[in-house]
Amino acid sequence: MFDREIYNKRIAWYRKARFGMFIHWGLYAIPARGEWVRSVEEMPEEEYLPFFEEFNPVDYDPKKWARAAKEAGMQYAVLTAKHHDGFCLFDSKLTDFKSTNTKSGRDLVREYLDAFRAEGLKVGLYYSLLDWHHPDYPHYGDRNHPMRNCEAEKGVERDFNRYLAYMHGQVEELCTRYGKLDIMWFDFSYKNENYDMTGEAWQATKLVQMIRSYQPDVIIDNRLEVSGEGFGSLATDCPSDFCGDFVSPEQIIPPNGLKDGAGRDLMWEACITMNNNWGYCAKDKNFKPASMIIKKLVECVSKNGNMLLNVGPDARGNIPSESLQILREIGVWMKKNGDSIYGCGGSGLPKPENGRITQKEGRLYYHIMENAIGSVPLYGIRREEVKAVRLLEDGSQLQIPDNWVVNNYPDIVFVDVSATPDLPDATDTVVEILLRETAE
Ligand code: GLC
Repeated sequence: MFDREIYNKRIAWYRKARFGMFIHWGLYAIPARGEWVRSVEEMPEEEYLPFFEEFNPVDYDPKKWARAAKEAGMQYAVLTAKHHDGFCLFDSKLTDFKSTNTKSGRDLVREYLDAFRAEGLKVGLYYSLLDWHHPDYPHYGDRNHPMRNCEAEKGVERDFNRYLAYMHGQVEELCTRYGKLDIMWFDFSYKNENYDMTGEAWQATKLVQMIRSYQPDVIIDNRLEVSGEGFGSLATDCPSDFCGDFVSPEQIIPPNGLKDGAGRDLMWEACITMNNNWGYCAKDKNFKPASMIIKKLVECVSKNGNMLLNVGPDARGNIPSESLQILREIGVWMKKNGDSIYGCGGSGLPKPENGRITQKEGRLYYHIMENAIGSVPLYGIRREEVKAVRLLEDGSQLQIPDNWVVNNYPDIVFVDVSATPDLPDATDTVVEILLRETAE
């Protein structure tokens, strides 16, 4: 039974955190053509296993990753413990296809958890419900399996219940042997003409009950029901036992935010790649500039959502230099303006033409992304509501002009932000409004 009070308490930290790091890492970093390489190229297992023999991330230092995330202003992280290829980055007793059996011999998940907790970040694990390595996972006729079109696989007996016991067993290992987990990020449910791989096909009620018995406060995504497509029953009036705690739009920011069936704000997290791949893809240099990501993070928060920004470390264990540079630039902005992100949400005001608005505790943050001729208009508030106006990045007072130019527009509050054509911050200059009833 869905208890909304317990739910709101559970997601309180997550709703405030707003910004996290997604980490897609594994054997697919060696072919370096993205994490779907086996499926896209219909690669037989025997062509993939050499990467298992070879995998040896000599540069892996999750403390560096954790520092990069923290410096960027990220509050939580989610690492792939097992992706669709079935390779486990943790020391599972249920398989030999794991990082502790590679040349590195390391439990990569454990080191990640230790390092990110030490930096004060909340920690999550991504776990793929799909498993292209396990013999009892559907092969022929599945929608995604690398061997989906392989005639030799047709009619091969597979015991899906045996796979479910394996999958549940691994999730139990993660929930019982790695300390407190803050997020479990499952991926993904789907249907085709041959298989319905959604909800109870995964024995999802039993799975979630088991998880919550060990990790009562863990936050779970909605992909036991859907994929990045669809919202699942969390968005309806009758959430299922496995609806999850947030909706996970992928490579998109919901244009108008998201409401549930009763019109309540729906908790959502947009997962976004920095380039166009989740897993390391050597040729993909299509990195989004930090300025764009900052503006998109503000957009998420202004629509009551989170952003989970992805990095795809390479086969040696290094986050790509382009990603590190982007994270550094985001961090510079976040250090000065994080108050307009953390604990903030939408203002309920219409989006202004020159940027966006976020809001918390009766403070409004006007994100000015386009300068004005002269004084900058702050739409949606009345002069008498304003106690004080500050440039967030340095706390300096901004003047509200009272002159013949702006006095023609008494319904709009103007502020003098810059005497030059340039805004103090070219990407997003944040003006903080302390509203009269909450001002100190
Ligand atoms: C899609 C992709 C998967 C990726 C996930 C991230 O489900 O299949 O590779 O891990 O998106 O949200």
